[in-house]
Amino acid sequence: MGGILKRPLSVFDPKVEVFDRVCTKVTIFREIPPTAGLPLYAKDFLSICLKKNRQSSLEEDFKDYLNAPYAKVTYSGTAAFYIILEGLKGLSSKKTVIIPSFICPLVPLAIHRASLRVAVCDINKDNFNFDLRKLQALCLNNDDILAIVAVHLGGIPVDFEEIKQIAGNKEIFIIEDCAQSLGAVYKDKKVGTLGDFSFFSLCRGKGLTIYEGGVIVTKKESGSVKIDATIERIVNTDFLSETLKILELFGYWIFYRPELFWWAFRLPQVFWDWRGGHLRALTEYFTVGFPLHKISRIRKSIGHVAFARLDKELDKQRQKASSYIENLRDIPGVKLITESPEAKATYPYLTLLFNDPIKCEKAKEAFRNSGLGVFQIYAMAITDYDYLKRIVKNTDSPNGRFIAQNHITLTTSTFLKDKDLNSVIDTVRNITYQENRLPAFPPLAESTVGVIGGIRHRRDRR
Ligand SMILES: Cc1ncc(COP(=O)(O)O)c(C=O)c1O
Repeated sequence: MGGILKRPLSVFDPKVEVFDRVCTKVTIFREIPPTAGLPLYAKDFLSICLKKNRQSSLEEDFKDYLNAPYAKVTYSGTAAFYIILEGLKGLSSKKTVIIPSFICPLVPLAIHRASLRVAVCDINKDNFNFDLRKLQALCLNNDDILAIVAVHLGGIPVDFEEIKQIAGNKEIFIIEDCAQSLGAVYKDKKVGTLGDFSFFSLCRGKGLTIYEGGVIVTKKESGSVKIDATIERIVNTDFLSETLKILELFGYWIFYRPELFWWAFRLPQVFWDWRGGHLRALTEYFTVGFPLHKISRIRKSIGHVAFARLDKELDKQRQKASSYIENLRDIPGVKLITESPEAKATYPYLTLLFNDPIKCEKAKEAFRNSGLGVFQIYAMAITDYDYLKRIVKNTDSPNGRFIAQNHITLTTSTFLKDKDLNSVIDTVRNITYQENRLPAFPPLAESTVGVIGGIRHRRDRR
């Protein structure tokens, strides 16, 4: 039951297809989550019986952690973003919000729901930063820009200074999308405190989680007043839906472990793929009617209890990311998207870019049923989703499209063991080396030369 059935890799045979030669088969009994979500424990549920935990505030945790004066928990990251936009409408009459070309589809949906316009700016070809020349041109040529959404994707802080300069010249608000980056640091400041407003996601798989949730943060006093007024105006109580969320959080505790995760993650994918719902299989199909209601004290208390583990988990994620980087960075034909020198990323997963889509497809195929937590961020550039066509104008986004077509993500989940990590590295190396017509590598387990953070590294061999 379970376990990876690994084929020997030591002898290169060009007649054998690469994904026939790597670890491709795992039973349904072991699936590692594709991102580093924090697991929950029975003691988290029990500890909310303690009065001090029930009375504690997840909002205070965020304020302390980020050193920010204002934090509000919301139904989701999307709800947080939407509330910020509704609040901004009271501070400016401008109507256009700039987003990067590679972004969660919920972001333009929230802009649309707030009756604002979406403008897309392409990113760079080999990282998640805006193409700054395009961003500058967009801002210079349009007096209607209300805000720029700076997305710290994959826990990697964007080059914020440049965005700030462009926005500052035109009095444009900056909203940081920190959905994937709680704990990341840019120039000695935590992300979420760099711009005018920011939002975090507490959704499953996003690090700290209460199954579904979000947080708004702002340093602006005028901003926090508007946010409070907006919450008062549009956020309601929905007892039934919240009860369901508590049950789902309980289900998350049970299923968020490699032995059971297949049922919660892969089975729905298999179902939607079978029904032809490719975007639903990738959980990239959303509607504009996302809920906004309040979050119960129970879920907030569980978030509070888990908060104490956050930094330790982030350290472990970074160690795993370092191992991938150390082993994969010199391979011809691939590039890892990593932090800039002034940033410290959290890496809930690491993004690997191939220089051509065929290699990338081979990698996806090789990992499809591996259970090793290899996945992708978004299937396409935000301009290419058919169901968003009415909302997102058909702006040319060649780089967003390139990244969408050429990347895979490598998990840094707490459940990823050394042998799993080594299998991922072996598989990627063999795919790329066969493509480059070089001899394949023997499995990493047999050629250990170094240790970082308890994980083996191979530094030689070409
Ligand atoms: C970059 C980014 N922004 C926004 C969101 C929306 O957050 P939530 O799922 O909490 O609504 C997500 C979630 O997938 C995301 O990854």
